[in-house]
Amino acid sequence: MGSAWHKCAGLHKAASLIDIDRTFFVSGGAKAQGRMLKLLVSVIEKRPALRRRVWQFWYQHLAGYRISNWTFMNYGYVCRNDAHSPLLLDQSDESDRCCIQLYHRVAGAVDLENQTVLEVGSGRGGGASYVTRYLKPTSLTGIDFSGKVVELCNRTHRVENLTFVQGDAEALPFDNASFDAVVNVESSHCYGSVPDFLKEAARVLRPGGQFLFADFRSPHDIEPLKQSFDDAGMTLLDEEDISANVVQAMEWEDERKCSLIQKHIPGWLCSVFRQFAGVQDSTVFNSFKNGSLKYVRFVATKSV
Ligand SMILES: C[S@@+](CC[C@H](N)C(=O)[O-])C[C@H]1O[C@@H](n2cnc3c(N)ncnc32)[C@H](O)[C@@H]1O
Repeated sequence: MGSAWHKCAGLHKAASLIDIDRTFFVSGGAKAQGRMLKLLVSVIEKRPALRRRVWQFWYQHLAGYRISNWTFMNYGYVCRNDAHSPLLLDQSDESDRCCIQLYHRVAGAVDLENQTVLEVGSGRGGGASYVTRYLKPTSLTGIDFSGKVVELCNRTHRVENLTFVQGDAEALPFDNASFDAVVNVESSHCYGSVPDFLKEAARVLRPGGQFLFADFRSPHDIEPLKQSFDDAGMTLLDEEDISANVVQAMEWEDERKCSLIQKHIPGWLCSVFRQFAGVQDSTVFNSFKNGSLKYVRFVATKSV
């Protein structure tokens, strides 16, 4: 679980620094920043409650960036098997292809047509919009911790059968057995307790309902994670290490991310955003490359 903080080896940690010491980011060298962030990461790793608060702060902060067309916050996915024909997308979705492909790989693992779907940690809503428009559930509810991002989503994604609400993954504001499927993409590493989240996901799923999950972890955290599915009353049906696909997406997206950061982010925060975005040579990118971090995908079902 601690490894999740690789992602932030810049970001969220930075979140807590933002108002504390701007001058550090302006004047500090990259090495000094790296050391400081590592220290912060190790402190936060040991404190789930603090981890939740820092992430909440960070994503609330990010919701303030009104960058048009920024609707995804994941590392993306590239299919490495040429035998598969490319995912057909509308022209307007092409610029988000890698992020959409991750959603397609995760949520498209089962047939969601005419199903009631909950996405937990829906972020800026691009994934929820894609699933609703292309995979045709009866309804999709996106829930996110950040009230600001939920407000942004309800304003920007005008899609039939799609709504966004504010709430906590660890205390879902829904009745028992109210969804056919729960989707969770690159969000669980922010939670104070993933076992509590999985119990909540199982509670709101109808018996036999599907849980569609992707996120990153240290290799040694993957077995305990799988055990938590079992403990929550879910049976794993499929598991896949998609790290190589994610790394390829990060490579493909690198130039675009760098130029977006340069264009929209204040100079003193650029190195933090580069870490968060996982550009080449960032801590998270190198961790996927050297195997110290794995990106995994699971399909599970709530036991009947
Ligand atoms: C890296 S973003 C991923 C967003 C989206 N799934 C995507 O792929 O674009 C993680 C999201 O999880 C949300 N999140 C973090 N902790 C949460 C919690 N306890 N409950 C609900 N959402 C949470 C954050 O606010 C953020 O929007």
